[in-house]
Amino acid sequence: MLILGLESSCDETAAALVTDKREVLAHRLARQDEAHRPFGGVVPEIAARAHVEALAPLVEAALADAGVTLADVDAIAATAGPGLIGGVMVGLVTGKALAHAAGKPLVAVNHLEGHALSPRLADPDLDFPYLLLLVSGGHCQLLLVEGVGRYRRLATTIDDAAGEAFDKTAKLLGLGFPGGPAVERAAKDGDPRAVPLPRPLVGSGEPHFSFAGLKSDVARKAGKFPAADLAASFQQAVVDCLVDRTRIALGKAPQASALVVAGGVAANGAVRGALEALAGEHGLRFVAPPLWLCTDNAAMIAWAGAERFAAGLTDPLDLAARPRWPL
Ligand code: KG4
Ligand code: ZN
Repeated sequence: MLILGLESSCDETAAALVTDKREVLAHRLARQDEAHRPFGGVVPEIAARAHVEALAPLVEAALADAGVTLADVDAIAATAGPGLIGGVMVGLVTGKALAHAAGKPLVAVNHLEGHALSPRLADPDLDFPYLLLLVSGGHCQLLLVEGVGRYRRLATTIDDAAGEAFDKTAKLLGLGFPGGPAVERAAKDGDPRAVPLPRPLVGSGEPHFSFAGLKSDVARKAGKFPAADLAASFQQAVVDCLVDRTRIALGKAPQASALVVAGGVAANGAVRGALEALAGEHGLRFVAPPLWLCTDNAAMIAWAGAERFAAGLTDPLDLAARPRWPL
């Protein structure tokens, strides 16, 4: 089975071809960093226009990379939300048009489901159920992944997402855009114990997250400490929150066979290392997708599409894009 996947919900435009045998035959991606950098964050209208320009050539390039045509594809999977509505519409309308023209079924994919199932593309031995820490720019959740389309949310953030806190911290410290990788680089030269920062909700019995208080404390301390020390101390505070919250969730999900992390913040080395140690403490397998599969991409959408299509799930061509769409 061969699936074409399309992703355009934030600031990456991407197209990929993935088989149900976990072969990534092609994955193409265009970033928009240069367009958004002057504004220090993603500007929705600029993003949507850039998706329009980039997507069709990326699809053609991906098909050429894989040496296939649309006729060889079994289904077309497109992100249908959640995300910036202009961008989501570009990918979904493109997916519908290709599906209609080629006479192929459409599989609408929740972007979060793409992240949630991406570890199974990377690891053939990862079986349900698993505990997933989904940490991205827009989301911070702990989910018990019980099967395709079966996600039990154990916790979410009561204010900001972890990735958002990384991006704000980068801006406050003048480290540039995109923020997460910039903070991680700066933190390498800093002392994680140099700046006292809060660990919101750590110790609470419910595994929810909060990062707003941490972010405002970084804002108060910016300029008063070396940027590298602030970056390292901030990153350590986030790691401590993620580990403590995930430990609580593990206690509530004894049936989980593995601890899994996905989403853009899962690309962070300190986050991965600390979660791996936590999994070890619990005698659980730890699974983290390779870095390119953690941040937004179309291979995870194609893979989620493959899993849904294999389960007999397809969608009508009049399906609407959804800016908000909880899993
Ligand atoms: O999953 P993703 O690409 O897009 C969303 O669905 O949100 O996640 C993007 C987020 C951004 O906030 C970015 O700063 C963060 O992931 N991120 C990182 C790293 N790489 C990306 N955060 C910390 N360390 C990184 N190395
Ligand atoms: Zn994402």
